[in-house]
Amino acid sequence: MARIVLFENIHPSAREVFQAAGYDDIVTHTAALSPESLREAIRGAQVLGIRSRTQLDSALIADNPDLRVIGCFCIGTNQVDLESALTHGVPVFNAPFSNTRSVAEMVLAEAILLLRRIPEKNDRVHQGFWDKTAEGSYETRGKTLGIVGYGNIGSQVGTLAELAGMRVLFHDVEAQLPRGNARPTTTLKQLLAQSDVVTLHVPGGKGTHNLINEETIAAMKPGAILINASRGTVVDIDALHAALKSGHLAGAALDVFPVEPKSRDEALDSPLRGMPNVILTPHIGGSTQESQENIGREVAEKLVSYLQSGATKGSVNFPEVAYQERAGTSRILHVHRNVPGAMGALSSAVAEHGLNIVAQYLQTRGPIGYVISDVEGEVSDAVLSVLRSHPVTVRCEVV
Ligand code: NAI
Repeated sequence: MARIVLFENIHPSAREVFQAAGYDDIVTHTAALSPESLREAIRGAQVLGIRSRTQLDSALIADNPDLRVIGCFCIGTNQVDLESALTHGVPVFNAPFSNTRSVAEMVLAEAILLLRRIPEKNDRVHQGFWDKTAEGSYETRGKTLGIVGYGNIGSQVGTLAELAGMRVLFHDVEAQLPRGNARPTTTLKQLLAQSDVVTLHVPGGKGTHNLINEETIAAMKPGAILINASRGTVVDIDALHAALKSGHLAGAALDVFPVEPKSRDEALDSPLRGMPNVILTPHIGGSTQESQENIGREVAEKLVSYLQSGATKGSVNFPEVAYQERAGTSRILHVHRNVPGAMGALSSAVAEHGLNIVAQYLQTRGPIGYVISDVEGEVSDAVLSVLRSHPVTVRCEVV
């Protein structure tokens, strides 16, 4: 039975999933460990669960031949040497969707608050002023929300916004199925020209760097509101600052920044600090109790599915084979170097031991091939050792 080692206070929902699936050998650590302690703590583990602060470099992966699978109980996977994990036959899973709803709710709340100028009014009352006026305050109902990047989060924001009576437009570089009554625009500028609130849900990286800049802000409606809970690099902060100062934009909410403080003790360095009708939050769009619980469950379920069926769909580094119903009496998971003859080597080793392959699912990714074979008959230790010692084999398990 696989030994599971979890770090960094992973939500108890993960343990519940493992236990329900029959895995009881679970060791938990509340914190991320130093490299030395980590080396000791993961020895003999088949399953590792980490969050963003545990670094799994290629030496740690290479030194742990028992390791079968890694779960990142978070969104990012930069903390793992993914290439090294791939070449050692170790799939890595994460939780890209668990906090979708949390981000979407925050964005809708910010749209409503900013249209009413609540951040500014709240601040004024705290300072001892009583500016009772309807000027510049609008209902959300009937306003147009423009969503840039209509993926998991963007489309969820659209669904919630329609419930609040908003008209929803979206722009995406890929064709997307509209949810509800949302309508796509052909260009970004068309979306910007029609939207009372623009919200960004694109990935980071070169393709979206300063997507919102002086020129695209000028294309926004006067008095519009900008919300960014995607990546800090998507917005040119100086251009946004100028547009808020001139009054071209009526408000903004930012959860992400080009440079973010590295610890709780550091302050955000931004010209937007102290501006009226601007909401600044410390990258907490996805941070709720519910999302932590969802992450625990989502990743643990992927790990259990891999351990029990070999399914790798959704892995961030591995050839992806979707869950398949069992066809034979035993299932062999074979990870091999992606070279000519690898499949032949597997087939002949199995055939020589009198096993008949009744179903097979192969995928490759770069230097690695991964095949799930369902066979009729028991896979003996002799077959397993022939398969494991073959020069093309990286890893071989029977599940
Ligand atoms: P996703 O991958 O499901 O959706 C992104 C969409 O953007 C895709 O449909 C893609 O085709 C589209 N896209 C890419 N380049 C584009 C461009 N130049 N113009 C228009 N559309 C473009 O991603 P998901 O899960 O919806 O996440 C969106 C963003 O939210 C990511 O940047 C992610 O890092 C961020 N995020 C922020 C959180 C927070 O705490 N603030 C929490 C979770 C995610």
